[in-house]
Amino acid sequence: MSRWTIVALACAVVALLAGLRTTSGSAATAAAPDGKAIFASKCAACHQVGGTGLGPYPPLAGNSDVTAADTASLILTVLNGRSGPIQVNGKTFSGAMPAWKDQLSSDDIAAVVTYVRSAWTNRAPAVTTQQVAAARNPAALSGSQIFAARCATCHQASGQGTSAYPPLNGNPHVAAADPKGMIATIVNGRSGPLVVNGTTYNGRMPTWKGQLSNADIAAVATYVRSAWTNKASGVTEQQVAAAGPSVLSTVGASIYASKCAACHGANGQGGGRGTFPALAGDAVVNSSDPAGMIGTVEHGRSMMPSWKGQLSAGDIAAVATFVRAAWGNKGGPVSEQDVAAVK
Ligand code: HEC
Ligand code: HEC
Ligand code: HEC
Repeated sequence: MSRWTIVALACAVVALLAGLRTTSGSAATAAAPDGKAIFASKCAACHQVGGTGLGPYPPLAGNSDVTAADTASLILTVLNGRSGPIQVNGKTFSGAMPAWKDQLSSDDIAAVVTYVRSAWTNRAPAVTTQQVAAARNPAALSGSQIFAARCATCHQASGQGTSAYPPLNGNPHVAAADPKGMIATIVNGRSGPLVVNGTTYNGRMPTWKGQLSNADIAAVATYVRSAWTNKASGVTEQQVAAAGPSVLSTVGASIYASKCAACHGANGQGGGRGTFPALAGDAVVNSSDPAGMIGTVEHGRSMMPSWKGQLSAGDIAAVATFVRAAWGNKGGPVSEQDVAAVK
């Protein structure tokens, strides 16, 4: 036997013994899932092995949301996923965190949450399987209770709003026959100018994804659509699930700068002595139904290029959302579903 063969054999024996030791070790602690291993296989691709985060993925190490004494929203984030802007250590992230409730058991989620709370420099106590199981099946709160606890501080107890917060009572967006837009607002939040019954609001509605389950969002949306003088139909959990991640107007702004500004102008003012129309104040852009604008962007028209195939539905939604809110435009956001619906 050569020296290298002996070394290789010795390594194999050591590996085998190590393997035996871990198997017998885990047999002793029954089936307790290993939070570190779950983190490595399910979370580290985005949040990184050291919990440092990367690009759009926020750090979990040194993150006070992760080590908070109240673990309710941490557990809901991992169960239900979340999207939309989030501030971590003074930096804004805006991506989509997947939901794990259908892929991981309550035991697994408790183990991985316990791991992220105690790994790296984090030093927070464990989360139990019971806490996760309770968050998974919240004692169904009624829509009116959720409204009172979560929404009334801003929108007021009778949905009448204030000068800073739009009314939900008698608001045509809330009571619209198609609830898609209002569901997306509750799921993803929104900011920027919003006109309700002739008054312009310009605030920030928080995102509720991860903070409320889909069932709770459906309950509160059903409540606001039918409370006070509103008389619109209910919203299902499936409709909430379909609202999807937020379309990011920051992404839209960068697409606009690279693909559209050369013709339509950096500030949507148009160009080429009238050859390229202004998008600021444009009627098609500001129409309450975005289908006309989406169709033009997808298919092009005379000198306007077709973007279908060059931009994804998400990118078209993002750039349309940006254009419809920039430079005084008041067209309202566009979802990926809106884009998919325009053939
Ligand atoms: C596909 C990438 C991806 C994977 C995989 C992923 N995450 Fe995330 N996670 C994100 C993104 C993006 C955010 C920020 C979401 C936002 O902007 O609202 C996030 C946010 C979070 C937050 C909230 C942080 C805060 O400050 O509130 C926690 C906690 C978290 N993830 C834990 C996990 C755990 C645990 C796993 C594995 C079970 C996991 N993530 C897997 C992308 C991912
Ligand atoms: C921190 C204050 C705050 C809280 C809490 C809040 N909202 Fe809002 N909401 C706003 C603001 C501000 C806007 C307008 C955003 C804009 O100007 O783009 C808004 C807008 C909305 C809209 C869109 C209205 C329209 O005309 O399109 C709906 C629907 C809504 N909120 C529902 C809710 C529900 C349901 C809750 C509770 C789960 C809630 N809000 C909690 C501040 C809040
Ligand atoms: C090569 C120049 C060019 C580029 C690049 C371009 N456009 Fe256009 N766009 C035009 C022209 C020209 C028209 C007018 C078409 C016509 O004759 O009706 C137009 C029309 C439009 C309209 C319809 C306006 C109306 O009132 O009907 C929208 C919306 C629009 N463009 C959005 C965009 C967006 C978003 C992008 C980037 C993804 C973009 N355009 C890139 C040249 C361009």
